[in-house]
Amino acid sequence: MPHPLEQLRDDALREIESAGDEQALEAARVKYLGRSGSVSAWGEQMKTLAKEEKPIVGKLLNEVRSAVTAAIDICVQQFRSQKESGALAKIDISLPGATGPTGYSGYSGHSPPLTGYSGYLPLERGSLHPLTQMLERSIEIFRRMGFALADGPDVEDEWHCFDALNTPPEHPARNEQDTFYLPDGRLLRTHTSTVQIRAMQAAQPPLRVIAPGAAYRRDEVDATHSAQFHQIEGLYVDENVSVADLKGALEFFMRELFGANTKVQFRPHYFPFTEPSLEIYVKSKALKRGEQWVEVCGCGMVHPAVFESVNKARGDKAYDPEKWTGYAFGLGMDRLAMILFDIPDIRLFAQDDLRFLRQFA
Ligand code: DAH
Repeated sequence: MPHPLEQLRDDALREIESAGDEQALEAARVKYLGRSGSVSAWGEQMKTLAKEEKPIVGKLLNEVRSAVTAAIDICVQQFRSQKESGALAKIDISLPGATGPTGYSGYSGHSPPLTGYSGYLPLERGSLHPLTQMLERSIEIFRRMGFALADGPDVEDEWHCFDALNTPPEHPARNEQDTFYLPDGRLLRTHTSTVQIRAMQAAQPPLRVIAPGAAYRRDEVDATHSAQFHQIEGLYVDENVSVADLKGALEFFMRELFGANTKVQFRPHYFPFTEPSLEIYVKSKALKRGEQWVEVCGCGMVHPAVFESVNKARGDKAYDPEKWTGYAFGLGMDRLAMILFDIPDIRLFAQDDLRFLRQFA
């Protein structure tokens, strides 16, 4: 003979299972678990039981209560998800979007509602920021040349930003006037060249990486300077890498970006972390700037001292400057986008003015 409590449990479960709607389920819940429900009544009855019986019946009662509670919870969930999928099934996702009864999407200031139109307007489609477009185009070209993506933090230490890049303490770039320092001595990286070091610390040569990202300088903000700007760093380390490789890769990049007739010029320059160092200028009739040389990139052959810093940090000789050579470059993304899209002022990138941004949609 099953214990009456077990009988009660079986009845309850059967009733819950056959509940056809939320109302029937609620009725079952009250009947069994409600304050004067039958499971609760057993709780009262416990008091009258003999001492030896109490623990056995008590345990059984707990089991029955949790079985009934769990069954109700599951049913509630089922009803809820049935309701939701029923509601979703009525939505036609192929209908055009609506913005609300005013017919206005909320972009105040720039696109007033069509005159005389008081119904629903379709939602406006977003588009990528011109800098993002520029970045994606550039990354795509480098990927075709076999470069992998690397990255590093915007908040850096002095070693990765300067020391490891052969930039001594007395160098002007390390001055507080030029660099944003944090109270704890760290800084906002002044260039993405930091990722050269991080990539070499993390992997053995040969290495071929690009690192897109933001850089920060305490420049006076004007039409061509912004406290935050964007670069793509590049690093290629292998045996017998030469300036000819550097020249070939970057000329290819510039012509893919600005057109086949782009003229590319390499001029001698100085960077602490490359020797020799060069700057790249481009000129193209296809560009609005026409016949004017514009500087777009710093580059050069990786300085042996940079390899030595990396070796020291790694504690090995993986980047032996006698064996490995490499080229590195840093492309100014904002500058490239300004040239390509004929944008007169770098500040436009950060002003979120839709009249500006819509031109690149
Ligand atoms: N880090 C330099 C800058 O921000 C640009 C640069 C020059 C990067 C030469 C390089 C390089 O990797 O080899 O002005």
